[in-house]
Amino acid sequence: MNFKNFISAFLFLSLLLNCSSGGDDTTEPTPDPDPTDGVTYDADIKSIMTSDCTSCHGSTPTQNAPMSLVTYAQVKANVDKIITRVNSSSNPMPPSPNSPLSQSEKNLIQQWKDDGLLEN
Ligand code: HEC
Repeated sequence: MNFKNFISAFLFLSLLLNCSSGGDDTTEPTPDPDPTDGVTYDADIKSIMTSDCTSCHGSTPTQNAPMSLVTYAQVKANVDKIITRVNSSSNPMPPSPNSPLSQSEKNLIQQWKDDGLLEN
């Protein structure tokens, strides 16, 4: 075959292949798989601490709580323990009879850590 035919055949083939690929190369934006990304202390974490933790873990801890969870630095320094305890069923924080954090609150704290413990 001559060069022109070769090009046509090539174009025809690539068209075929392109069509048969069934639109895998769609350029539609994929929806954000995680709507909670960008979690920050100021926007998301502080309010959880204030409503569920600082009654004991206040700037002067009460009821035998061992530390304050009032500032960004304090919460950040304790994040691993916090994640362990809010997810613990045998030894949860807040302690009973307080109700545990909701699953979405627990997820937010974990996501905060995964996002790099941003302050704001
Ligand atoms: C009713 C009071 C009270 C509330 C509310 C409370 N805590 Fe505590 N917390 C304590 C006490 C008392 C201890 C020490 C005894 C223990 O470890 O169980 C403690 C211990 C902890 C520890 C372990 C610290 C260490 O060094 O091992 C973490 C982490 C913690 N709390 C996080 C939290 C978080 C986060 C919240 C809110 C979601 C919370 N606490 C709510 C009283 C409280």
